[in-house]
Amino acid sequence: MKLLITGGAGFIGSNFIHYWLKTHPEDEITNFDLLTYAGNLESLKDVVDNPNYKFVKGDICDRDLVFSLVSGVDLIVHFAAESHVDRSILDSSAFVRTNVLGTQVLLEAAREYNKRFHHVSTDEVYGHLGPDDLSFNENTPYAPRSPYAASKASSDLLVRAYYTTHNLPITISNCSNNYGPYQFPEKLIPLFISNLKENKKLPVYGDGLQVRDWIHVDDHNRGVDFIIQKGKIGETYCLGGKNSEIPNIELTKKLISLMNKDESFIEYVKDRPGHDRRYSIDYSKATRELGWEPLVDFETGLKQTVEWYLNNWDWVEHCKSGEYQAYYQKQYRKN
Ligand code: NAD
Ligand code: TYD
Repeated sequence: MKLLITGGAGFIGSNFIHYWLKTHPEDEITNFDLLTYAGNLESLKDVVDNPNYKFVKGDICDRDLVFSLVSGVDLIVHFAAESHVDRSILDSSAFVRTNVLGTQVLLEAAREYNKRFHHVSTDEVYGHLGPDDLSFNENTPYAPRSPYAASKASSDLLVRAYYTTHNLPITISNCSNNYGPYQFPEKLIPLFISNLKENKKLPVYGDGLQVRDWIHVDDHNRGVDFIIQKGKIGETYCLGGKNSEIPNIELTKKLISLMNKDESFIEYVKDRPGHDRRYSIDYSKATRELGWEPLVDFETGLKQTVEWYLNNWDWVEHCKSGEYQAYYQKQYRKN
């Protein structure tokens, strides 16, 4: 099988490429990525010599390039996106362009050549929950609250519409917060590991009692594989972690303890506007229909993740050169 992976130089996409080349060594992968601030070919340095791996630099909004790439593959796995909520609050333009228009261009190409299309999405399209609400599932109405979530929700609806209107063979996954190697250090876990390593404060938004459901990136990617192999065309599958709902402040304390630091590093800062209170995922459809469930225990996965960042400090430092500094100053300046 020939796969076109969009956004394969990002966090989840690069882990997916590692996973896929290991699990399906006979398949050919084209990684199509614009290399925005979040794209990093260093995350793929151990696969560059694999004859079944190829990289093409480009924009998913570039119709001609997209059509020529899509024509030559069997399957598109669409990861490429602007993915950081805080950046979508500062400026949502790139989110609408890449997440909505880029997805539409890919869908048009998939329609032209009738290709299988798997769309990687987020649980944030469902909005947020109170402490006693039932978890999100595939039937939860869409109610996105951040510009990021709204752009992903729009892309999901386009993907669904191409199934209904054009019979395009699509599937969608809506997954909770991922953690693991190669995550850009603007997201909570790698940011806090990196700050602790540099003896910098940990900016905890608001009261720190917002709850996230964390899934190891390998479990997510195995879930995408299960959907590609066994998922029903036209269907959506929710993916989430195993007993891994945790308030941000508790997660922060776990990271502090894993890094042998103390709680004086915690700094409560102004809350994120429109901050979603709680995410929680019911992944029973994926278990029932595909036989998928997350395997990585959160405590073990978190410990290994901390070790990975500490052992790959060069990778972190390279991410933090350039544009990162300007973003950090803007996002975390004192008001
Ligand atoms: P990321 O920001 O780490 O990577 C995104 C990648 O897309 C980068 O390599 C970037 O260069 C590339 N890209 C951006 N704009 C592009 C364009 N116009 N053309 C081509 N490439 C472009 O994101 P991630 O965390 O790996 O997320 C991947 C996907 O998974 C996204 O669709 C995201 O919405 C979804 N998702 C993420 C999470 C999470 O916790 N990170 C959870 C659920 C779903
Ligand atoms: P993040 O990793 O940005 O993922 P998302 O917003 O998609 O859930 O943030 C995870 C949680 O951590 C979220 O509730 C916001 C919070 N957070 C902080 O408290 N401080 C920070 O500096 C960051 C980046 C996030």
